[in-house]
Amino acid sequence: MHRLKEIERRRTFAIVSHPDAGKTTLTEKLLLFGGAIQVAGAVKSNKIKRSTTSDFMEIERQRGISVATSVMGFEYKGRKVNILDTPGHQDFAEDTFRTLTAVDSAIVVVDVAKGVEQQTEKLVGVCSMRKTPMIVFINKLDRVGREPMELLDELEEKLGLTVCPLTWPLGMGSELKGVYSLLTKKLILFRAHSVQDEDEAIVISDLADERLDNIAGSLAEKLREEVELISGVYPEFSREDYLAGELQPVFFGSAINNFGVAELLNCFVDIAPPPLPAPTDERMVDPKEEAFSGFVFKIHANMDPKHRNRIAFLKICSGVFQRNTVYNHVRLGKQLRFANVTSFMASRTELIDEAYPGDIVGIYDTGNFRIGDTLTEGEQFRFKGIPSFSPEMFRYVLNADPMKSKQLAKGIDQLMEEGVAQLFTSEMSGRQIIGTVGPLQFDVIQYRLEHEYGAKCRYEPASLFKACWVTCEDPAELERFRDKKKRAMAVDKLGRLCFMAESAYSIELAKQDFPNIRFHFTSELT
Ligand code: G4P
Repeated sequence: MHRLKEIERRRTFAIVSHPDAGKTTLTEKLLLFGGAIQVAGAVKSNKIKRSTTSDFMEIERQRGISVATSVMGFEYKGRKVNILDTPGHQDFAEDTFRTLTAVDSAIVVVDVAKGVEQQTEKLVGVCSMRKTPMIVFINKLDRVGREPMELLDELEEKLGLTVCPLTWPLGMGSELKGVYSLLTKKLILFRAHSVQDEDEAIVISDLADERLDNIAGSLAEKLREEVELISGVYPEFSREDYLAGELQPVFFGSAINNFGVAELLNCFVDIAPPPLPAPTDERMVDPKEEAFSGFVFKIHANMDPKHRNRIAFLKICSGVFQRNTVYNHVRLGKQLRFANVTSFMASRTELIDEAYPGDIVGIYDTGNFRIGDTLTEGEQFRFKGIPSFSPEMFRYVLNADPMKSKQLAKGIDQLMEEGVAQLFTSEMSGRQIIGTVGPLQFDVIQYRLEHEYGAKCRYEPASLFKACWVTCEDPAELERFRDKKKRAMAVDKLGRLCFMAESAYSIELAKQDFPNIRFHFTSELT
């Protein structure tokens, strides 16, 4: 059946890395392989290179790019591959976390010299929590880096992965001769070339083969020793374990030289999962179900400040999404029809009539959507797993232009719906507190309030450590807690109770004094 075939051939994933490890470069090489772009350099890096907080033009430029490259789709070997872009700057990490809720698998890029970095840890942590299948690509082999074994140890220790190398480097830096595929027993010779090209490969099924010595000289012996060691140390590849998030294949290469990338892509399209069932508050939804359902994981304000249109990014979870069809907006209880729906193919967007599970479509929105919203054909359920994380930076927000208080309220409301930051209202003082994951967001908010809503805000420092949502099975106990901690209590945008802790110690203390109260660090209170 056409629909089931379409679902089966979709591969929707994200590439994640610490900034500078090579995510943009790898994305571009994959797009070149897929024929989605023709020349290198077509994908602009979406990172804010100089992260000076006053560099607003850079922020705006980045926002522009990130719409165009939000989803990059291409065809490869009969598969429809959808790469979901994630922001490069760590202050936008929360955007990345949410994007990870819309993917079925991930590729993690690690710099061979730098190893596991801070952002890698956070992002892999989110994937592990969700049991997302991951493939690791160790990049920049054309530079001298760390010993492969040492890197694999680090992946296991710092990221808690169970790695399974599928290629192994033969040399590194200026000594780089190639990579040996442990699966196909082919030696892929290194040749720097930045465009799509078939790599030169030699089948060496027995490593004792003399040709290896001719090619690699003294490195041949090292490869033999390492390959023997690997087979004793690491588990054999099992697709089942990979799909369960329990085993992570590792590839070595150099994205900029387009080296090792074909092996990665070919393996990816072979093993990566098609769209997976998605959890809702009522039941699991299978992609193969006939009735359409999907959720919004990202909202992007239009770049034209005169029109407050936004694009809501909808991940299709089941059935077939059709343009101009009436769907049920579960949170609002409204029936909505969408005429203006786009799909994304590399940096082109085009109007579409239908989309399948695994696909992402952009819907032009005039204010109906909020991150996490579910659309169905009528059934009442909401997709789960699109949490907000406890913010860690806080400022009181004040109106700097009393004539524009309405604009300010509207602007703040919409920016919060877009997921730029979270808003809390102190129960005692009624003051509004904005919480973010990075300092840059405060400047983004101030800038966008002024330029898109004509409102001015200023900030006052709030010395808070973390906002945690609190719940308790016993309402009386919750009331006691609320009363005792009244100076630290606030409500979030949905009216849920939050404890605004001043320090890690105050959370510990509160936990000790109120053992029945549950403290939640993501907004999904389960
Ligand atoms: P990111 O999206 O993860 O932040 O990384 P990006 O691809 O932008 O790559 C970061 C830098 O690393 C870039 O250099 C890029 O050219 C370089 N790079 C990527 N892959 C490789 C590789 O395999 N080998 C080597 N040697 N370098 C690699 P840049 O100087 O920051 O930027 P650019 O001026 O080259 O664009």
